[in-house]
Amino acid sequence: MSYYLGIDIGTSGTKTLLIDEAGKVLAESDATYPMAQPRPGWTEQDPEDWWKATIKTVRAVMRQSKVDKADVKAIGLSGQMHGSVFLDASDEVIRPALLWNDQRTADQCEAITSAAGSREKLIGMVANPALTGFQAPKILWLRDKEKRNFGKLAKVLLPKDDIRRRLIGDYVTEVSDASGTLLLDVKERAWSSKLLSKLDLDSSLLPRVVESEDVTGTLTTAAAKSLGLTTDCKVVGGAGDCAAGAIGNGIVKTGLLSTSIGTSGVMFVHSDQPNIDAAGRLHTFCHAVRGKWHMMGVNLTSGGSLQWWVENVLQGLAGVPKSRSFAAATEEAAGAPAGSGALLFLPYLNGERTPHADPRARGAFVGMNLTHDRAAMTRSVMEGITFALRDSLDIIESLGVPVRQIRASGGGSKNTMWRQMQADVFGKKITTLRVEQGAAYGVALLAAVGDGAHRNIASACAATIEVADETKPDAKSKAIYNKLFPVYRDLYTRLSEPMHTLADLQ
Ligand code: XUL
Repeated sequence: MSYYLGIDIGTSGTKTLLIDEAGKVLAESDATYPMAQPRPGWTEQDPEDWWKATIKTVRAVMRQSKVDKADVKAIGLSGQMHGSVFLDASDEVIRPALLWNDQRTADQCEAITSAAGSREKLIGMVANPALTGFQAPKILWLRDKEKRNFGKLAKVLLPKDDIRRRLIGDYVTEVSDASGTLLLDVKERAWSSKLLSKLDLDSSLLPRVVESEDVTGTLTTAAAKSLGLTTDCKVVGGAGDCAAGAIGNGIVKTGLLSTSIGTSGVMFVHSDQPNIDAAGRLHTFCHAVRGKWHMMGVNLTSGGSLQWWVENVLQGLAGVPKSRSFAAATEEAAGAPAGSGALLFLPYLNGERTPHADPRARGAFVGMNLTHDRAAMTRSVMEGITFALRDSLDIIESLGVPVRQIRASGGGSKNTMWRQMQADVFGKKITTLRVEQGAAYGVALLAAVGDGAHRNIASACAATIEVADETKPDAKSKAIYNKLFPVYRDLYTRLSEPMHTLADLQ
């Protein structure tokens, strides 16, 4: 029997799992690490923490499963997208990595747009506009603001690709994650030499790019020893966590769309063609399926808003142990009516990406009256997060991309009330999987494909992923949300000016 490891380098922690050829999960392990916020809007992590968590979780799943290390044939890597690991010529990390939700690069985004000639020309080159979270503006930020560090720079890697470097001793990325650097010609699935030259960036700074299921190398002796594996173990390209999570959800053909509520919220749709949103509201990236693409909308503080509400405001709810405070808060929210008594929440606590692309957007409760209580406020936070996802869904549908089935995953699928809320807010049936699997599972499947255990990723998904149940929209709640959604959408336009003034004062 052959076994495959999936490792997902997330923002709050690393998750590793081990599957067999049939896709059955034998063991799972998580290890958490902190995220530094040295200034409002700045987010950083130490790549060393990811490496320590990788070793710890791989060793834990090997221990739990008792699988012989010689039978672990391949590893798939997934990770938070867009981050920048800056390395010098001796592979030393120059400074902490800037993350996907870091907002410090607004000036560099403007500089990229003007170097490209215009927003339209930039979208023509790399399929996407310049957004603060993407990797390219981070490289320019280092050049503008930390000249000495930039002078030492030899390579820039995405988070999971820095783990790959430590595993195989080579600099390699794959198309799905590379799409989120803003330096990939997404249509051609290769670095955009045109944009690199306009930005005066040397292509030697970047790793080579492969398809997600391609084998990128085998473990070095040192890595095999650290992980307790063998030097025959292969490492496949893997995928950014959105594409990896989509594979874990079986989003590998036209008509399938997934919603995922983690720290960020993601609406992800498969596409056979590189469909591009001319307005640049949705991202068009390469899919981790060979020769396919996807579109997605990303909300920066999705489950992160509920986490903020529970941890910073409700603080564990009076009398409720901290470990149960999320469950307690959402159970209480189930008692509030759909629409939370016409109370709206804007989840823009750290700026927003889709659809506003505004690092200075800020959160708000609007419409409070004396009848609103804690339950209504919690529910309103959950509804605001769900409305933010509907913004992406509406754009996807307005572009004529077919949506036949929506699969929910992450925090929003585990909770019955939130599943129903999604069905009601989207006005569509929501399906969930028999065994819900995330990004680590998706890349473990890619590892199995890379090792030849399945013909391709679509057949691997067909053999392993099964839809379990369906939640239908409730006509009454749907009607309430249809009345509230236009008001929600309008609020950003009306409030963006005061939001910016406040953001500048923070
Ligand atoms: C995707 C994005 C986030 C991170 C979170 O574009 O920025 O979903 O990948 O891990």
